[in-house]
Amino acid sequence: MSKILVTGGAGYIGSHTVVELANAGYTPIIVDDFSNSEERMLTGISQILVHDVVCHKVDCTDAKALQEVFTKEGDIAGVIHFAAFKAVGESVAEPLKYYHNNVAGLVTLLQVMEANKVTRLVFSSSCTVYGIPEKLPVTEETPTQKANSPYGNTKKIDEEILRDVASSGSSLRTIALRYFNPVGAHESALIGELPLGIPNNLVPFITQTAAGLRDSLTVYGTDYDTPDGSCIRDYVHVVDLAKAHVAAIKRLEKEEPAAFEVFNIGTGQGSSVLDVVKAFEKATGKPFAYTTGPRRAGDVPAIYADVTKATQELGFKTSLSLEESLASSWAWQQHLGK
Ligand code: NAD
Ligand code: WQD
Repeated sequence: MSKILVTGGAGYIGSHTVVELANAGYTPIIVDDFSNSEERMLTGISQILVHDVVCHKVDCTDAKALQEVFTKEGDIAGVIHFAAFKAVGESVAEPLKYYHNNVAGLVTLLQVMEANKVTRLVFSSSCTVYGIPEKLPVTEETPTQKANSPYGNTKKIDEEILRDVASSGSSLRTIALRYFNPVGAHESALIGELPLGIPNNLVPFITQTAAGLRDSLTVYGTDYDTPDGSCIRDYVHVVDLAKAHVAAIKRLEKEEPAAFEVFNIGTGQGSSVLDVVKAFEKATGKPFAYTTGPRRAGDVPAIYADVTKATQELGFKTSLSLEESLASSWAWQQHLGK
């Protein structure tokens, strides 16, 4: 059973990927410093798998500690690197915190991987690298644009670092997955997203409002050039997204994989904010009251993925609908409230 090191494996997307890796016969090894997670995520993973998963409480920017993990674990067949900070607003206020964790953390990991001759890497990138696209849907050929936050810039820089390493003749083989908007939770409701403080993201804000933790959702902008005036995104179920990581690891195991590849991971469907509210009402069978407000600074009016490349080359497919995603987010919110 090949060991796959999962940095940030106690986080939202990482925990679901750990479960899917184990389901696919891999041995996931978590590395997480718990800067944005809690022990309960490990408990949830163990309950789902009915066995414990190894977890090293280590900061990926600490080369010595990371080396100790590689030494202790021995044969590591590949790495999936989720560990990063992701709060866009916080990155504007504290850019160095983001460049240190998201950029220096990647460089440290790459150095330790190289020293240990580990050559397979799956990297968490983001649709944020496309900025405000001129044409929809976006393909992997759509030009990337100047990032509109330090967070977004760290993802652009990280991709450039990976591309430079790939063209240096290094034996590193990387697949960068550009996620669109991950939503939902595991069907067991034992793992899910743990937003810190007041959520900025739409779905946790909706579920917290429905649970009575927030007064009301404000729809940011209803005057966009979209069918109902609200912004459009591509909301992909986190379990479908997690499975894409397993597919990426399998692709890297093939003989002579390309040195660096990127794939969009979304559903290929755009949904507006008001579509999400309606789907949430359907999923819960209850009306959901919201208010409308002005546009949020920095929001992209509309973006959704062309997933042809991931479908054809990774065998990626989505099996869970927006309504199923929202029903699972709601079940997770209720589990959190218990
Ligand atoms: P998350 O915060 O839930 O998970 C990240 C995990 O990494 C957390 O458990 C945190 O404790 C850990 N971590 C952070 N810095 C670390 C460090 N230096 N060393 C060890 N562990 C560290 O976030 P997520 O939503 O699961 O995102 C995972 C990755 O996907 C991130 O790289 C994020 O930028 C990227 N991404 C997320 C989204 C999204 O909307 N959630 C979209 C696109 C890309
Ligand atoms: C979705 C839509 C909001 C909250 C962010 C990051 C991006 C990325 C994913 C990592 C938008 C609207 C939201 C609310 C609302 N991740 N909204 N009321 O903006 O697509 O992307 O997370 O790489 O980098 O920028 O996601 O969930 O914040 O917003 O109307 O209270 O919901 O305006 O149209 P976004 P989101």
